[in-house]
Amino acid sequence: MEWDAKKYNTTHDFIFKYGAGLLALLPKEPKKVLDIGSGTGALTNQIAELGHKVTGIDQSANMINQAKESYPDLNFLQEDILNPSDQIGLYDIAFSNAVFHWITDQELLVKNISEHLNVNGQLICEFGAVGNVQAIREAFGLELKTFGQPFEEPFCFTSITDYRTLLKKHCFEVVEILEYDRPTPLKGGRAGLREWMEQFYTDELGALSGDQKEKLLENMERDLAPRLWKEDHWEADYRRLKIKAVKI
Ligand code: BEZ
Repeated sequence: MEWDAKKYNTTHDFIFKYGAGLLALLPKEPKKVLDIGSGTGALTNQIAELGHKVTGIDQSANMINQAKESYPDLNFLQEDILNPSDQIGLYDIAFSNAVFHWITDQELLVKNISEHLNVNGQLICEFGAVGNVQAIREAFGLELKTFGQPFEEPFCFTSITDYRTLLKKHCFEVVEILEYDRPTPLKGGRAGLREWMEQFYTDELGALSGDQKEKLLENMERDLAPRLWKEDHWEADYRRLKIKAVKI
């Protein structure tokens, strides 16, 4: 999927606004930080402002171009953490906000991160936990079925238990691991849910005709309103995993 970097910066800016809390887990003294899936660079910039020497990587050309335009003094590379080039190098901290659930090969992800960290280096990350946006995903799956479309889940939402095992396998000791509900208000009033769907399920919705898509979104709004409509906005049923781990 190619990202709409402008929309990410405006309508979906909650993604990096929530990520600001993760910055509190960074050490106080300056470190060499790799920001994995840096998007439009807002958090990368905040990491730099905290005094760290940071490199942002993202596999999306749109995101990297936008990040370079917004923060010309920072270092951004178009790189895929699953297939990193030699120019990435070694870091003290691997940082990542709201990215890991996009990656199906979690084993390779954690292995590659471990290989790009110095000994005693830290992994500090947050991403979707098991049950993340469950109500929305279930409603979407049911609606797609009525149009004869399969719902192949593009995301990997995982649990504390599974992640602990994975981290241990790749030489990490867990310092902190939390799984929690994070109900997330969506921007855009009535249109908020459909705008969120259009951002994150672009390919699935794009496979439908215009009429089918409209009907599907209307049905989802009807079915989800009792649980997720809160007076003047939609509240997505996010669940998160937050992790701090040290490479031993
Ligand atoms: C998330 O950040 O949790 C998320 C992103 C896209 C789709 C579903 C969840």
